[in-house]
Amino acid sequence: MKTSMQISRYQSSLHLHLVPYSGQEDTLKIMSVTHEIDGVLLHMAGPDRSEGNWIGQHEILKQLLACWLVLDPKDMPLTPRLVGTPGIGKTTLAISGARVRQQSLYIYQCTADTRPEDLLVTPVISEKGKIAYHASPLVTAMIQGGICVLDEGNRMNEKSWASLAPLLDHRRYVESIVAGISIPAHPDFRCAVTMNDDESTFEIPDYILSRLQPTLTLGHPNREDERAILRYHLPFSDLEMLDLTVEFLQQAHELKLNFSTRDGINMLRYALKRLHGDSEHPLSKDAAWRESLVNCLGEEALDLNRLSEQRTRTLGGDVVSMGLGDFFFNPEDPLHPDFGQEIDDDDDDMDDDEFDSIDDDEDDE
Ligand SMILES: Nc1ncnc2c1ncn2[C@@H]1O[C@H](COP(=O)(O)OP(=O)(O)OP(=O)(O)O)[C@@H](O)[C@H]1O
Ligand SMILES: [Mg+2]
Repeated sequence: MKTSMQISRYQSSLHLHLVPYSGQEDTLKIMSVTHEIDGVLLHMAGPDRSEGNWIGQHEILKQLLACWLVLDPKDMPLTPRLVGTPGIGKTTLAISGARVRQQSLYIYQCTADTRPEDLLVTPVISEKGKIAYHASPLVTAMIQGGICVLDEGNRMNEKSWASLAPLLDHRRYVESIVAGISIPAHPDFRCAVTMNDDESTFEIPDYILSRLQPTLTLGHPNREDERAILRYHLPFSDLEMLDLTVEFLQQAHELKLNFSTRDGINMLRYALKRLHGDSEHPLSKDAAWRESLVNCLGEEALDLNRLSEQRTRTLGGDVVSMGLGDFFFNPEDPLHPDFGQEIDDDDDDMDDDEFDSIDDDEDDE
């Protein structure tokens, strides 16, 4: 293993081994690509070939592409953060950006278990007992001048992020401790990070966040765009059911509920399958759509207004701890088990209306 941690010379020794798919002489498959840096042979990862057609919301795509422009030899590309709720289109946007620039795309799926070496170079014992060094999708993009999307970046812990600090500033290199080499990024290398803000994520340290600029925030598509997205993904869809789904999604967006375009695609896809699945006892469109809504998004999705009210109540009132008695009696009611006891300051904002509405909910059930 080499120990020199100086930036190595960029050795352009790219070896391609092309073999035909069995029975398809004209189709070539890249079996393995290797690249040598300071005597260490790195096996490259394969690019992502998924489709990435971005529909509508042109402004955010332009913003992403602007981040990746280099205007002058003194200029540097930016690594933006793409943020937004799950299923809103963050990964698709990044993929589309790479497709527009016609660069190969590599996606690294970040998780809480991602270690620095997983992000960079992993040693693998080969058949002959020798160590083979496998470059991650990120390092492959760095070497080949591709684009890397660090997907769901805030699932990754600080230690792993720390290994990327020199890559994300003017230095543009990483150091692989495992392979004992420094790996400089190709001038065409570009990167973007997608992030979700749910509970299962880590706080990214400020010195890393300051390298992940700007923040591009995705919003829900408008009615016309959402319809076009659904039509694009499900071109065989019944139009009535498609419109029902768009209507549902738009209402949910208006009420600030977290049902996403992906939820719409999934539920419409299932509804269409149910409609066509049983030719002897076909379901009505309405029944198939409703069943799919409940099975994909839960019973509560049938009443968006009520779900929205519940959500508002939870957000406003989740500091209040409720006992069983709270569901049956107002706090001032002498029959309340806690009547006469001190109430915390935090509880002051719980007024009668809120209890009434909880009682109403109970009555409904
Ligand atoms: N503007 C768009 N154009 C085309 N497809 C879209 C668009 N917006 C969302 N989609 C579709 O919605 C689905 C969800 O998108 P995607 O997986 O990119 O969301 P995400 O924000 O990355 O979600 P997560 O946070 O769960 O990873 C995909 O099928 C995607 O193709
Ligand atoms: Mg994603």
